[in-house]
Amino acid sequence: MSSIQSKDDIEIRLMEKKHMKEALNCFSVFDLQESLSTLEAFYECDSKAFYVAINRKDNRVIGACGAPVTTHNSGFLGLYVVDSEFQNRGIGKQLFESCLQNIGNRNCGLHAVPEKLEMYRNKAGFRVSEGISMVVCSGIPMNWQSLRQNVDKEIKIEVFNRDNNELLQKIIDYDSRVQMNGNREKLINLCLHNSGYTTFVAINDNTKQLNGFGCIRIDYEGKGMIGPVYGDNEIIGEVLIYNLLKSCPVTQTKGLLYMTISSSMTGIEISKKLELTETERCERVFTKHVIPVNHSLIYCLFSPNFGL
Ligand SMILES: CC(C)(COP(=O)(O)OP(=O)(O)OC[C@H]1O[C@@H](n2cnc3c(N)ncnc32)[C@H](O)[C@@H]1OP(=O)(O)O)[C@@H](O)C(=O)NCCC(=O)NCCS
Repeated sequence: MSSIQSKDDIEIRLMEKKHMKEALNCFSVFDLQESLSTLEAFYECDSKAFYVAINRKDNRVIGACGAPVTTHNSGFLGLYVVDSEFQNRGIGKQLFESCLQNIGNRNCGLHAVPEKLEMYRNKAGFRVSEGISMVVCSGIPMNWQSLRQNVDKEIKIEVFNRDNNELLQKIIDYDSRVQMNGNREKLINLCLHNSGYTTFVAINDNTKQLNGFGCIRIDYEGKGMIGPVYGDNEIIGEVLIYNLLKSCPVTQTKGLLYMTISSSMTGIEISKKLELTETERCERVFTKHVIPVNHSLIYCLFSPNFGL
């Protein structure tokens, strides 16, 4: 089913659920991150957007790429990888082009690792930039107890209970505000119902209005992976991060992955307070236009691969 091209003994085909772990395994070899639960959710939303390269000899996944369309009729490309043993044979380009073919005339974005930025710009047509980068930080978070722990009296920070449909709708609406009216209802639903996700909300006790929310999950290598963290102001962002770290003790042993954006001074300041190491800045580039998003509400982003 769905095999589109073959080169030598390698088959490029649509990703199936059973390929996900192997794809993440290939990816993590290069110290690139994603959690299985997040990949599963994006895959459920747009399963035709993901491709793998399979070595016919042993049926092993040796490459992957995905560009799910989530908001504003635009794709976002990530999980782009080929096992080093199979690189420089044109497999990566075939995977990438399969994803772009699926996108067709629509717009597409990606976070470019610095060493590949020129290639994406000059060879793959990702020429539009907003001058903003994803900032990747990691390490054991130090001093997290010294982060702000309270907002004001009216705003309560509490764990999201998966059965609370009214609150879930408020989270979906808040996400849509961040995405400038982009609708990610299915994605948010899938992630927040996944038992791998812990979610906290900031809620006004008087008006019951939602003022922000944040999530943490475990990445493929067992590290804590925080995000998204969205909030009305920097205090809410910081208190959400404090609560998420407190809820996930594995970050103190295995470490934390923390991805913010270069326009979020608070997001970057918090990573410094936590003494995380900034490992990379990956510029956001697009084929046609910038995907609109309200940067001022973002403290940590959703997925390093598939979007803010
Ligand atoms: C990036 C990566 C997937 C490319 O895979 P690959 O199979 O080695 O790439 P190819 O053999 O298809 O590339 C052949 C040529 O096409 C270019 N190319 C690669 N991907 C391309 C694309 N999407 N569009 C146009 N050209 C591309 C390469 O620059 C190379 O050109 P060159 O020979 O002039 O240098 C691979 O190097 C990799 O896994 N790197 C580590 C993970 C990583 O950095 N991922 C990107 C995260 S943003």
